[in-house]
Amino acid sequence: MDSVKGFSKLSKEEKLAWLSRSLGDGSGTVPSLLSSFWHPDENRQKAFEDFSENTLSNFFLPFGLAPNFLINGKTYAVPMVIEESSVVAAASKAAKFWLERGGFKARVLKSTKVGQVHFLWQGSMDRLLAFFERVRSSLLEELKPLTKRMERRGGGITGLRLLDKTQELPGYGQLFVEFETCDAMGANFINSVLESLGRRFAEKVRACEGFSSKERQIEIIMGILSNYTPDCLVSVKVDCPVSDLGAPKSETSGEELAKRIKAAVDIARVDPHRAVTHNKGIFNGVDAVVMATGNDFRAVEACGHAHAALGTGEDQDQEGEGMRYRGLTRCVVEGGHFTLSLDLPLSLGTVGGLTSLHPLAELSLEILGRPGAKELMMIAASVGLAQNFAALKSLVTTGIQRGHMKMHLLNILNMLEADDFEKERVKAHFVDRVVTFSEVRRSLKALRECQ
Ligand code: MEV
Repeated sequence: MDSVKGFSKLSKEEKLAWLSRSLGDGSGTVPSLLSSFWHPDENRQKAFEDFSENTLSNFFLPFGLAPNFLINGKTYAVPMVIEESSVVAAASKAAKFWLERGGFKARVLKSTKVGQVHFLWQGSMDRLLAFFERVRSSLLEELKPLTKRMERRGGGITGLRLLDKTQELPGYGQLFVEFETCDAMGANFINSVLESLGRRFAEKVRACEGFSSKERQIEIIMGILSNYTPDCLVSVKVDCPVSDLGAPKSETSGEELAKRIKAAVDIARVDPHRAVTHNKGIFNGVDAVVMATGNDFRAVEACGHAHAALGTGEDQDQEGEGMRYRGLTRCVVEGGHFTLSLDLPLSLGTVGGLTSLHPLAELSLEILGRPGAKELMMIAASVGLAQNFAALKSLVTTGIQRGHMKMHLLNILNMLEADDFEKERVKAHFVDRVVTFSEVRRSLKALRECQ
């Protein structure tokens, strides 16, 4: 593709024309495809374009609903945005299964968000630490114009420390800040506070006559929130007597199922290759809720995977083998009782950001009964756990492909441009057969030939 200058300054139509030219699309197929996905209401379309830059169109993803989620005694229908077939079906199936077995029991353990001001300092860190303790309260006071609204809502800065990081990197220090941001994810609030804090701290150091001229040259490198929030933690579990685990018509007994699910969870706790896939399944559920509610799934994923690698105190390797990436769920089968649980750091918001700009994110929150951030953390984690349970249950019994390919059948039929009649006939054909792309194509061809 050709390089281009000033692309962002072009109008949307000019951008489309440039793309079309660059692709050698003489008949204008590309612009008409892209414009066919524009929202018919111009204002709404404009609002979507303004979320990002150089927007040419909208990229659709399915918005679905997984009903029957019983969480802490309350029933939810959970909106999920995901393109992968069988995820919403699996979540719904697991929700229904646990609805009849006490549901999901969730609690938020902590809700602390984190930010850091990273700096370089050529002097004794002990002297800087002593100076920081002297100016600490005035720094907090000077940040009041930025923090007072959040304080009125019950949040604000809950911790401020200077960390000596010179052992890790010469001259490196950090202001480590903890926040409570109530129902907001709080990224903008945190970053504004950190940038101001960095500037004010540097001003105070530069004005301090006790420091040498070299020491006064403190260099603030950056102030930014950390997406690693191990102290913004939700815990969720499902449990039942082992004998209740097997479904009435299932070939596998509750005892056998419990044993096999536990083995699968334990394998993910010792083998990183399996752990990544195990956790990917959990995030199939979590991300779909995070997306539907207009939250930041990249932040949630990055944090979840860091947690899977760094763990909590009790996860740290006892035998000195170093850090290991692990599955995020745990399974206990004891005294005839089965428990599957998940501890996940999740930083979510139900006010501000896209949650109030995207009409479907707003609707998702409405469907969920306008939860606060903590309630949303419990819902998203429950869907993650449901997804893990559903995936493991299939994996250790029938295998994942049977259900997955059944759901994928429709995608294959759409790819092969089957009409409604053909879809119904081919779906009926595959009710008790294994779905593969070539078998579906063969069956469709046979159907077309005898029509
Ligand atoms: C597929 O998207 C997710 C699974 O691979 C998860 C797992 O293996 O646990 C089925």
